[in-house]
Amino acid sequence: MIVYVLNGPNLGRLGTREPDVYGATTYDDLVGLCVETGSELGLEVTVRQTDHEGELVGWLHEAADAGAPVVLNAGAWTHYSIAVRDAAAQLRAPWIEVHISNVYARESFRHHSVLSDIATGVIAGLGVDGYRLALRWVADNIR
Ligand code: DQA
Repeated sequence: MIVYVLNGPNLGRLGTREPDVYGATTYDDLVGLCVETGSELGLEVTVRQTDHEGELVGWLHEAADAGAPVVLNAGAWTHYSIAVRDAAAQLRAPWIEVHISNVYARESFRHHSVLSDIATGVIAGLGVDGYRLALRWVADNIR
């Protein structure tokens, strides 16, 4: 089964970006971790990152058309992008919203997500392990 792991703006800078908040794992490490976890679980994981909103919208359309599950860290778009929400609403398979940091322990503008109420589930604050846990859930619950 193909699973899309889609990342929004600034997540390509993991490792150098605010390491006190997001940890030392680089984006390349994250890709490796997701692909490796996927192969352990029998999933074919495609990991992507973009700083361009339309590109993420296009990838969500692709996942919707494929009927594929998605692990989505939309970064800052989480908090305000109705375009990303509308694209995610078209997904036919379960999808999981992931945040590396605990957004509820941070600035108040991060407490609201325009995605959470339509996501299958949400994982926040567990670092990059959140991606691993999301993939594990997909492997255990979708066949
Ligand atoms: C984030 C949290 C968002 O508030 C922030 O804009 C990000 C990353 C996280 O993974 O913790 O870019 O989604």
